[in-house]
Amino acid sequence: MFTRYLSGLSTASRMARKISFINYKGGVGKTSLIVNTAAALAKLGKRVLLFDFDTQSNASIWLLKLDRWNKINATGEGAIFSIFEPGRAQVKDMIIKDVVEGKTGEKLLPGLDLVPTTFNLVDLENEYNGDPKRPPYLVFYEQLAAVEANYDFILFDCPPNILRASQCGVFSSNEIYVPANPDALSLIGFTLLVEKLHKFHQLSASFRKSAMGLPAQVHGIIFNSIKSGVDIEVPKMRMQLRLNQFKTAKRAAPVAKIFDTQIRDAMVVRRAVALGLPVALVSAEATDAGPAGDNVISDYRKLAGEIIQQVPA
Ligand SMILES: Nc1ncnc2c1ncn2[C@@H]1O[C@H](COP(=O)(O)OP(=O)(O)O)[C@@H](O)[C@H]1O
Ligand SMILES: [Mg+2]
Repeated sequence: MFTRYLSGLSTASRMARKISFINYKGGVGKTSLIVNTAAALAKLGKRVLLFDFDTQSNASIWLLKLDRWNKINATGEGAIFSIFEPGRAQVKDMIIKDVVEGKTGEKLLPGLDLVPTTFNLVDLENEYNGDPKRPPYLVFYEQLAAVEANYDFILFDCPPNILRASQCGVFSSNEIYVPANPDALSLIGFTLLVEKLHKFHQLSASFRKSAMGLPAQVHGIIFNSIKSGVDIEVPKMRMQLRLNQFKTAKRAAPVAKIFDTQIRDAMVVRRAVALGLPVALVSAEATDAGPAGDNVISDYRKLAGEIIQQVPA
């Protein structure tokens, strides 16, 4: 009884793991990976909050479907940019609980919440003139604190850069995961990311408080969209060598690794976007992808399990 009370307490007070998915290369599958992994984590009973920090709004349109997203896009109300401009909105009021809905509004995936974006997030990079003493990432970080205790995982879908929107995710994260394809461009994207991360951490150091812990470094690389029969040993080895160099130079976390789980290339991943569902909720009859559909779902489930096991330190 007493033990149960204690363990209940520790669950309530444990901080969420905050992870940015980012690579300097676009189109590697960041959004597909984060949406489907978030869904897999929620299916495993974790409380997950996903932030869409990419002005292209792919994750938001995917999970809300076009009708619901259009309403937010029309006014900008409820989109993440409104915490900066006009600056009255609060993250805590912007969370769309159990975001995935069926045709009649029924909740299909309890535990997966979203803070969406619309196209207006691009203004954060150009027109926005905030107080230089309070950069956007600090404003965001302070607001995030109000909701953190409600989640096991807080995930940030970032564009392929570390400009202001991405900085919000990166500054608040403890871990960075890098989605990659088995090609030279992904390796270049990873290398560039680590350089830019270092610069951003130097730039933002004076805004960090000791309670925040260390600035986020790369903790994992996830190979995505792997075609069957394609041998990825060589690109994987090159990635591992680069990762080892960064670890030696203390530019990547000591525990950083290439995840054992890789996500296969499957038609159902592309179809899921059009259906407005994570692949785990696309029923077998709705796909023409056959058994690969089931298999890729188990890839995401395995990856979610591996992320849960990964020691954040
Ligand atoms: N495992 C996969 N199998 C097949 N297609 C995929 C897979 N992962 C991503 N894709 C496709 O690759 C394209 C780019 O993916 P996306 O997640 O939008 O990348 P990013 O967010 O990095 O730009 C999309 O068309 C998406 O459907
Ligand atoms: Mg994307």
